Amino acid sequence: MALNEAQKKKLLRAALAMVAVGYFGAVVLLGGALGIWRLEGTHYPAQPIAFPHTVHAGELGMVCTFCHPYAETARSAGVPALSKCMACHQQIATEKPEIQKLTRYWEDREPVAWVRLHALPDFIYFSHKRHISADVDCFACHGPVAAMAEVRPIRPLTMGFCVTCHKVRNAPTDCWTCHL
Ligand code: HEC
Ligand code: HEC
Ligand code: HEC
Ligand code: HEC
Ligand code: HEC
Repeated sequence: MALNEAQKKKLLRAALAMVAVGYFGAVVLLGGALGIWRLEGTHYPAQPIAFPHTVHAGELGMVCTFCHPYAETARSAGVPALSKCMACHQQIATEKPEIQKLTRYWEDREPVAWVRLHALPDFIYFSHKRHISADVDCFACHGPVAAMAEVRPIRPLTMGFCVTCHKVRNAPTDCWTCHL
């Protein structure tokens, strides 16, 4: 369910009017309402390989940044190179169909086209690095990933989601912190 241009303009005008009279909270609520509306209509396609976080981050207890290595140093967390998977899966579970699929990608030198699940609009500035170095845990934004059979966003990435925590944590809430 996408907003059309007229609705977006109306929303923007309403939001700016609210800011003008100082109702910052109202903007946050508006953002939250919009986001929930958006997540409800979202259907994510299946991943090309049924990768279980429950096994790797759960049972095996692998740290998140082993596979998402850029979370500490860059804006994006990144997904792992196949070589990381194959360091284990050249030997482990080679009889399993999903691992045979994985091995085919590896042999064909074709990257796995993982379906991207979390994505902010282009006009938002976000950086993992700033949050990880401020000790904000993955869990705070992504929920209990190690226990998820299939990773899904736990909440829509609305402005309310960002600003609510920024207020609690005394992080900046000026518009230009996040709006490019
Ligand atoms: C063995 C490697 C591995 C480990 C360890 C791992 N992940 Fe992942 N992660 C992946 C792969 C592969 C994907 C893409 C497929 C998928 O979504 O399941 C992914 C996807 C994700 C996504 C969704 C990204 C998107 O598209 O928006 C999040 C969030 C995530 N991981 C968080 C975590 C967290 C938090 C931990 C630690 C608790 C963790 N991962 C541990 C390999 C790993
Ligand atoms: C540290 C070693 C290690 C690494 C690295 C690793 N895995 Fe695994 N993986 C395992 C083990 C152990 C299992 C459980 C095997 C079993 O149940 O027999 C497993 C299970 C799986 C399964 C489930 C197989 C099934 O059908 O039961 C998939 C799919 C998988 N891994 C994909 C990946 C991918 C993709 C990566 C890279 C992003 C990766 N693994 C990295 C050790 C690893
Ligand atoms: C402050 C909230 C927050 C925290 C903490 C956080 N993330 Fe994210 N994550 C996001 C947002 C927002 C996006 C979407 C970013 C975008 O579209 O630019 C995202 C996207 C991702 C993605 C997919 C896209 C990418 O950036 O490569 C992965 C994988 C991921 N996060 C893993 C992690 C892991 C692992 C941790 C902990 C080390 C972590 N995140 C901590 C909010 C967070
Ligand atoms: C769970 C808490 C939490 C959530 C959720 C969160 N942040 Fe933050 N954010 C922080 C903290 C804490 C800092 C302060 C980091 C520091 O002091 O360096 C921060 C800092 C930032 C900064 C750097 C600000 C600066 O000028 O130093 C940006 C940009 C930012 N966040 C954007 C976002 C966006 C966009 C979202 C939503 C998608 C978001 N944040 C969600 C806690 C959070
Ligand atoms: C901590 C980050 C953060 C701060 C600070 C912030 N915003 Fe946002 N804002 C967002 C995010 C993330 C979205 C995208 C929400 C979505 O896609 O649902 C957004 C969306 C919006 C939108 C809707 C735009 C559209 O076309 O969908 C308006 C209007 C807006 N913000 C105004 C403001 C104003 C005015 C301020 C300052 C009072 C502000 N924002 C401060 C993160 C922030």
